[in-house]
Amino acid sequence: MKLRPKLCIGMSLAPTWLANEGWRAEGSGIEGLYGLELAADVACRAEAAHLDFVFRPDASFLPLPVMEQSFGFSSLDPMLLITALMHRTRKIGLLTTISTTFGEPYLVARQLMSLHWLSQGRAGWNVVTALQGHENFSMTDMPGAEARYARANEFADVVRALWASFPAEALVVDRASGRYADTDLILPIDHRGAYFAVKGPMNLPEYPGPRLPLMQAGGSAAGVDFAGRIADMVFGLTQDIDSARSMRAQLSARALAHRRQPRDLRLLPGLSLYLGDTREEAQALFQANHVRVTRDQRLARVTEALGVDLKGWPDDRRLTAADLPAGFVSARSPAHCDTIRRIVEREAPQLGELLARPEILASIHWQIVGTVEDAAEEITRWFEAGAIDGFIAVPGGSVRSLELTLGELVPRLAEAGLFRKDYSGDTFLHHLTED
Ligand SMILES: Cc1cc2nc3c(=O)[nH]c(=O)nc-3n(C[C@H](O)[C@H](O)[C@H](O)COP(=O)(O)O)c2cc1C
Repeated sequence: MKLRPKLCIGMSLAPTWLANEGWRAEGSGIEGLYGLELAADVACRAEAAHLDFVFRPDASFLPLPVMEQSFGFSSLDPMLLITALMHRTRKIGLLTTISTTFGEPYLVARQLMSLHWLSQGRAGWNVVTALQGHENFSMTDMPGAEARYARANEFADVVRALWASFPAEALVVDRASGRYADTDLILPIDHRGAYFAVKGPMNLPEYPGPRLPLMQAGGSAAGVDFAGRIADMVFGLTQDIDSARSMRAQLSARALAHRRQPRDLRLLPGLSLYLGDTREEAQALFQANHVRVTRDQRLARVTEALGVDLKGWPDDRRLTAADLPAGFVSARSPAHCDTIRRIVEREAPQLGELLARPEILASIHWQIVGTVEDAAEEITRWFEAGAIDGFIAVPGGSVRSLELTLGELVPRLAEAGLFRKDYSGDTFLHHLTED
């Protein structure tokens, strides 16, 4: 059963439609990657489609090999980019990514509340614990999952306590009496924990309108529990409807465990959309976009996910459940590995077929390669089954795929009554909770 009548839809500003070979197309606009206009154009299109939010994922390190062929993780600072987009948009939510593994909560609390004030209630925080990048922050090792989530919980608690430390009601601003603030209401937080010592209060009042929504990204048990405690949205990695259902159920259970309601939490998987006017065109776009992923790289991905050694296998040999080593646990995302395992168990594909599949070739998100109708049908099926509450669009392949996503797919979902036809408010939290 779906928990809300309408989808929640966000748009990733990581220019995935230019990734791999996409940037090489004439007129792709890649020269503007480190400027404002490219992102502003997408944000305006997303607002014209009445999306809940635009969102900038982020990483604080640069894997070099990929830079030979595409832009990889190189990007503008997300907070500054999102702040600049505030001037070009009026209603859409503005979600930035900040890691709890590297920063300091006082700085983060102040920056986010500043963005919330400046945008008049449109800021949001994607709380990540990050996978790499410790070398850039004076750390010798990347902390393990348990330590990262312990720090994330404390970090989020300190940020929220700082926001509450100078409540909006404390602002009096009474010209007649000359009283500016009621300092009885502005209290230190005196936090002393395992990771942080922060006195407070914050040097900025809380925004008087709706609060700032939080998103979480990370699928381990600790990550799901963290989401159940603090998140309004979860950026999920679910490649098939069964893993989405299972993730949705886990999130509901963790929300209840933290005395929240399942519907307080929205599961929004990343959705990679390679769209074309025909299925053939979409397939051709998808394959052309991955033309430089070599056979060895594809084989390595299967081996990494399933633990099966495929060296010397011809393309027409079938891979079956009997070939999979029992008890193998991959270091990759468990959900992604399960998806590939299920393909093998269900379809026993020839190796060549498997190596051309989107699940092997491309991003680890839910993938739709097809027409706008195909995408609308599949999204509707997942939503009506209660497996998802919406999605974060991650269009791939070409600028056209991006245009079809925002200009045709989203309006089609709105026509079908599954998405808003216009905004009814102008804060991020309003969009999330309007129905
Ligand atoms: C869908 C998804 C998106 C993520 N996006 C980011 C990101 O933009 N920046 C980042 O530093 N980490 C990102 N992460 C990493 C997570 O914050 C987390 O560190 C990682 O998934 C490990 O936690 P887990 O074991 O709970 O999955 C993302 C993770 C997922 C699943």
